[in-house]
Amino acid sequence: MIKTRLTEMFGVETPLVMGGMTGVGYAPLVAAVANAGALGFITAHHSQSAEELFAEIKKCRDLTDKPFGVNLTLLPSLNPIPYDEYRRAIIESGIKIVETAGRAPTDHLPDFKANGVKVIHKCTSVRHSVSAVKHGVDVISIDGFECAGHPGEDDIGLIVLLPATVDAVGDIPVIASGGMADGRSLMAALMLGAEGVNMGTRFMATKECAIHENVKRKIVENTERDTLLTNRTLRNTSRVARNAVSEEVVAIQQDPTKTIEDVRHLVAGSRGRANVLGEGDTDGGIWTVGQSQGLIHDIPTCKELVQNIMRQAEQVAERRLKLGIAA
Ligand SMILES: Cc1cc2nc3c(=O)[nH]c(=O)nc-3n(C[C@H](O)[C@H](O)[C@H](O)COP(=O)(O)O)c2cc1C
Repeated sequence: MIKTRLTEMFGVETPLVMGGMTGVGYAPLVAAVANAGALGFITAHHSQSAEELFAEIKKCRDLTDKPFGVNLTLLPSLNPIPYDEYRRAIIESGIKIVETAGRAPTDHLPDFKANGVKVIHKCTSVRHSVSAVKHGVDVISIDGFECAGHPGEDDIGLIVLLPATVDAVGDIPVIASGGMADGRSLMAALMLGAEGVNMGTRFMATKECAIHENVKRKIVENTERDTLLTNRTLRNTSRVARNAVSEEVVAIQQDPTKTIEDVRHLVAGSRGRANVLGEGDTDGGIWTVGQSQGLIHDIPTCKELVQNIMRQAEQVAERRLKLGIAA
């Protein structure tokens, strides 16, 4: 048993978290993660309204009596996203844990605080962590350059970013995110001052994840070198799988004068979700994945995954710490 401030704060058995994932973080997977003893997040913006989010939360509750949360990804969007409605659904459903990302959730915090909802804010730099803490978030989840999705523009790997964040945020618990995949990652993160680890890519390659089997197999096949950074020139960098479409985007963006209009048809999330996650054509669009795919060699159930990670973490502690590092 590894107890940390995270397990204590949220009443979960293990210090393992599955962050929000567009196209992936639906109720059945979140419930499987919760039942395995980890903390999963429903991705709010799959829902078009408060009613849909209420229904998604209820669906998850019907599948687990363990704690879980909701991810609010606060990004500018062409189609307005009903964030205030989501907040209402979260609070009225009795959800007590929210993961925010995209920008500091300043406008949502007073309501969450008044209703006893704890906020884990996920960001990609020390300065954004410090600022979010000043605004009153409860936990920082710090996403290193290795991560799937948006690693920010600073390119700082987690081995530096994590302890730098721990040092900067005082007594606020920190979660290590990006590149985490196994028991070794967990122990390393705890040694660097984290209270737990957040994983996205690793939970994609699980039996309960409702993406196409081809994508899970591709994650297992891929190495740590099989991601690319798109939209760098637009200062909206995304780490995605290396495939025909992401290579085309990167080639177009070699020319820094190209705008989003030059790549919109290629980078559309809806195309990736339909063709790749839905149909299993791994070259059919952009899909999000992290460097941690180089550490993923199996497709277990969530329960097996959590058990394997915790068992390996204990073995690492036993062999590498108790018996001396050189053993
Ligand atoms: C397919 C996919 C979709 C994601 N979508 C979101 C999202 O909508 N909002 C968010 O905050 N993070 C999103 N993430 C990031 C994860 O929550 C997590 O921070 C990240 O995957 C950690 O890095 P890792 O993949 O190396 O474990 C996504 C990740 C993946 C793999």
